[in-house]
Amino acid sequence: MTIRVLSVASEAVPLVKTGGLADVAGALPSAVAPHGVEMTTLLPGYPAVMKALGRARAVHTWDSLLGEKARLLGGKMDGYPLLVLDAPAYFQREGGPYSDAEGRDWVDNWRRFAAFGRAAADIAGGLVKARRFDVVHAHDWQAAMALAYMRFAPPEGATPLPSVMTIHNMAFQGFYSADKFPALGLPSQAWSMDGVEYHGGVGFLKAGLEAASAITTVSPTYAREIRTAEFGMGLEGLILSRGDKVSGIVNGIDPAQWNPQVDPALPSPFNVKTIGKRAANKRALEAEFGLEAGDGPLFVVVTRLTWQKGMDVLLEVIDHLVGIGGRLALLGSGDKAMENAFHAAAMRHPGKVGVRIGYDEALSHRMQGGGDAILVPSRFEPCGLTQLYGLAYGCVPVVARTGGLADTVIDANLAAVMGGVATGVQFNGVNYASLADAVSRAVTLFWQQDVWRGIQRAGMKTDFSWSRSGKAYADLYAKLIAEA
Ligand code: ADP
Ligand code: GLC
Repeated sequence: MTIRVLSVASEAVPLVKTGGLADVAGALPSAVAPHGVEMTTLLPGYPAVMKALGRARAVHTWDSLLGEKARLLGGKMDGYPLLVLDAPAYFQREGGPYSDAEGRDWVDNWRRFAAFGRAAADIAGGLVKARRFDVVHAHDWQAAMALAYMRFAPPEGATPLPSVMTIHNMAFQGFYSADKFPALGLPSQAWSMDGVEYHGGVGFLKAGLEAASAITTVSPTYAREIRTAEFGMGLEGLILSRGDKVSGIVNGIDPAQWNPQVDPALPSPFNVKTIGKRAANKRALEAEFGLEAGDGPLFVVVTRLTWQKGMDVLLEVIDHLVGIGGRLALLGSGDKAMENAFHAAAMRHPGKVGVRIGYDEALSHRMQGGGDAILVPSRFEPCGLTQLYGLAYGCVPVVARTGGLADTVIDANLAAVMGGVATGVQFNGVNYASLADAVSRAVTLFWQQDVWRGIQRAGMKTDFSWSRSGKAYADLYAKLIAEA
């Protein structure tokens, strides 16, 4: 029997992406398909999504979806079923999915993503006769209200469906003031401690976590970490209370997007047997970033520039990195002060540090294919994808030992190196001393060329495809259906 899942996500590759959530939501349909799951993705109709959809058929129309007109359009994404919520008042605007061109959050995000959740709950409740589902899978706070509406305000005659709430990042919770509650169209009993009320306001993620049949996050270590005050961001008590309903399923990578042998972005494609061909990518990358050509280690960083990612600590460590013969190429955007600080670091170290502010998918591939090591000094990291891309591309990850970084990289300690299983460098605690030490270790390993090749090879051979995690999600859906 095919299990039909409605995946509710606010971004998905290849249509719209601001971070790893999009990679995962985009890859999931094909990840679960081999395991008897037909996944339909529901996305908001942002301009880019509407453009990609072209002329599509409306399968439903709302005269008022929390006060605005909306239509549901059917289409395909990479050959898998897609539903798009075309609600121009909410989603048809220039800028990003969550913020305007200047990076300010849209002031009506609460209404936009409540409406998105309301629509999802309507669909889950059988609104479109031809689209029936067995399970609803919501991603992050933007989709979480779907589960609250399913629980407190299902459409008439709806059969209750089991649901999964996946946390990609506990730091973003969708928390709003109490005065928004009346406009959500929820009954008064939803305003309760185990409902949408959270510290006197409305908590979208909180409401989803309370309502979900099962909660997953994107690595086993992060699933444990969010039970503590340090990582739970205030929701640790709730997570603890949900007990064994909470589990961690690590993200995979999509081989159609990330395969160094056939990657059109790479000047010199390669595989695990032809790692020597990476040299040409390194030369090209040096030129692209205005760096001196050289045999010494070239570190790369591809990231959102935020506190989460430990970029403030990297700024402190740059002088040390350069001092021991390293060079750095960084691609990132985010915090304006950090952007300026990285520009200043590049000015201080001409030919040694190159900085590109912005978002550039193809360049991120060239960096993974040409850099020697990728730095990921995150303070917390639910899963992290750039270290996985690094592993697949022979760009050795140097990572903080947290969340998914702890679960996916094997530190090059002596035993691991001798056993041929080391795939990167891990360090404890994100501070100057630990990151500087990790960079030094990486440089030392780099100059032991045989050891370094072994680390690259071990990483490239590791299976980070979706096969295991795709099955884990499929098993979870089947279990929830059996329990329902
Ligand atoms: P997060 O989702 O927390 O930002 P992940 O490591 O899970 O972290 O995913 C980030 C994704 O976004 C990766 O696919 C990464 O390559 C990509 N990315 C981040 N910043 C940039 C950038 N400036 N340009 C291109 N791709 C980027
Ligand atoms: C979030 C997390 C990141 C994770 C991604 C996809 O953005 O910060 O660690 O890899 O979601 O699950």
